[in-house]
Amino acid sequence: MFKKLFRQNENFIDGELSPELPLPKHVAIIMDGNGRWAKKRFLPRIAGHKEGMNVVKKITRYANEMGIEVLTLYAFSTENWKRPTDEVDFLMKLPVEFFDTFVPELIQENVKVNVMGYRDNLPLHTLRAVEKAIEDTKHCTGLVLNFALNYGSRAEIVTAMKEAICELENAGKKADEITETDIEKHLMTNGLGDPDLLIRTSGELRLSNFMLWQLAYSEFYFTDVHWPDFTEEDFLEAMIDYQNRSRRFGGL
Ligand code: FPP
Repeated sequence: MFKKLFRQNENFIDGELSPELPLPKHVAIIMDGNGRWAKKRFLPRIAGHKEGMNVVKKITRYANEMGIEVLTLYAFSTENWKRPTDEVDFLMKLPVEFFDTFVPELIQENVKVNVMGYRDNLPLHTLRAVEKAIEDTKHCTGLVLNFALNYGSRAEIVTAMKEAICELENAGKKADEITETDIEKHLMTNGLGDPDLLIRTSGELRLSNFMLWQLAYSEFYFTDVHWPDFTEEDFLEAMIDYQNRSRRFGGL
């Protein structure tokens, strides 16, 4: 069923997923290239974001079908507010449209929505859509579709540190007693686990303030494909590539 259909690559053994090798449990994606996709077609940048939203639907269905446990998507960073107002407004309306049209299918497919990021400065319509989607899917036990919305990793780490230190002080402990677990439990991904695989589309080789703590031991997969052109075959290609990696977590 999950056979690679189109591309060939010397890293692939037989172009198919191996039933013996594990799939990543948690896949994170930096969905880049919407603007460039639109520019190539002489369209406004927002047309790229709109098409990008349709790709989110497609890849969510596919990842869920494949048995991926968590799919984290970088939808809006704390730095994206610097973009022109009309683009920011459009990006803030996209979750409303996405959840309005897609939540019934998500429920049917047992997909649970999660959103990580700073909610306090989201527009009210975005916040309402987010909260409703989380509430409507809270009973679902399949794929967790985790949007990073108004998310920034350095800010997340600072917030987690503050909370961890506060907790430590309340427990009458000293600063040098702080552990990785104390910090991790205050990160926005608490309970979701770290990504096994990070995919970034559109050819940029950087992290852009995304999950800096959580990606410490993740495998990275970069592709030149712009996000609106990203297909199920591209996702499958990344999964097959992952299965051919050797993960050592610092050991031998
Ligand atoms: C980066 O491409 C993309 C974003 C900042 C937004 C990503 C959003 C989506 C894919 C839609 C999300 C959908 C939902 C449901 C929230 P870019 O604009 O930086 O592209 P460029 O680098 O080519 O200019």
